[in-house]
Amino acid sequence: MKICMIGTGYVGLVSGSCFADLGNTVYCVDKDIKKINMLNSFQIPIYEPGLNEIVKKNYLAKRLIFTNNLKKAVISSDIIFICVGTPTSKNNKSADLQFVFKVAKEIASHINKFKIIVTKSTVPVSTGDKIEKIILKRKKRSLFEVASNPEFLREGEAIRDFRFPDRIIVGSDNKKVLRKLESLYEPLIKKGANFFSTNRRGAELIKYASNAFLATKISFINEIANLCEKTGVNVEDVSLGMGLDKRIGGRFLRAGPAYGGSCFPKDTKAITVTGDLYKTNLSIIKSVIKSNSDRKKLLVNRIKSILSNKIKNKKITFLGVTFKPNTDDMRESSSLLLIPYLNNNRAKVYYYDPSGFKKEFSRYKSVYFCDNLSKACNNSDLIIIHTEWDEFKTLDFKKISKNSKIKIFDMRNLYSHKKMKKNGYSYYSIGR
Ligand code: UDX
Repeated sequence: MKICMIGTGYVGLVSGSCFADLGNTVYCVDKDIKKINMLNSFQIPIYEPGLNEIVKKNYLAKRLIFTNNLKKAVISSDIIFICVGTPTSKNNKSADLQFVFKVAKEIASHINKFKIIVTKSTVPVSTGDKIEKIILKRKKRSLFEVASNPEFLREGEAIRDFRFPDRIIVGSDNKKVLRKLESLYEPLIKKGANFFSTNRRGAELIKYASNAFLATKISFINEIANLCEKTGVNVEDVSLGMGLDKRIGGRFLRAGPAYGGSCFPKDTKAITVTGDLYKTNLSIIKSVIKSNSDRKKLLVNRIKSILSNKIKNKKITFLGVTFKPNTDDMRESSSLLLIPYLNNNRAKVYYYDPSGFKKEFSRYKSVYFCDNLSKACNNSDLIIIHTEWDEFKTLDFKKISKNSKIKIFDMRNLYSHKKMKKNGYSYYSIGR
């Protein structure tokens, strides 16, 4: 099939190259010519394991075409996926749909025969109706259908999540559209992926409801972790014990510093705006948002108490600053609150992250990037394991810090309390 992905960000580039890998001809369109030129010389702007290889293979096979010529891509494709960003608006709550609507107008102007237009970007319920109205102003109804096909790709695992999805969700009332999309996904369905169709608004809401529920699970276990710390219970036992109930499930029950990333924070806010719009108060999700934000303040207090409230001039090391491992993404990472706070309270913060230097910290005078782990930990007063990169899982802390009184705050529970105590470390963790 000939398809086009509009937007070569995280969703468009990953989905586009994976669709090409299924044998389709895929136009990946972006208005940013610099980005297109980078892609045409195999400079991939996002950090996603396995993406370079899959892009190169399909580009050389001429199944993957990077262009800023939207007209040519639309005319040459049967299915057009809208994959542009839907960031949180300036009001810091609703989804900003300006790019989606702009692209809808551009697509409309180039429709020359029947096209299926599919929103893959995460868009609030009824956005598909609005796109339909925009196109209808410019083209007759028989020339297009608008459907929803949200993505469920996790950063760092996106290619695997595309290839082996738990489910493919498609929203449309048009049988022809459903058949077309089902045949596009046929290779994955054959390998066991569930193909689930509903109406367009249903697919839009499934995406938000799924992310809001996952965020709820995380905030739930983070609050239980607080209670565990007060009652001498190991939160990992609670997660395991709960997870054995198939109705609960063990995944997304790992206590940590707070959820971050480009999706949970923005999607939880956006769905509460949809709720308010339809006069339905989504109080649970609102409390999840507050709980996650309060948690970062709680962690600051934990750090202060570990250092007996003496932060000034202390050397504090962050191992990992990204919101999760195997990505360079800093969006909504809890380090973006923790590190500036410590800097403003006169600590000297050194950070090492396998994904490299972070511009987010460049304006803070006593925050230093170290390009190797030992330099970051040398003579540190407190080592904070913030992100669970693999290389942080088997460290000899005395050796790398050269400080026999080193304190370790393991925000991802990578180490066993018993072993750390036996090695004489002052070891702190989450919910244990
Ligand atoms: C998420 C959804 O999982 C994915 O389906 C959607 O398409 C995009 O948003 P992503 O944001 O890439 O994916 O990361 P994810 O792995 O879901 O983690 C999100 C945040 O939750 C991270 O900060 C992570 O550290 C945290 N998390 C996750 C926990 O604290 N505990 C867990 O058990 C799982």
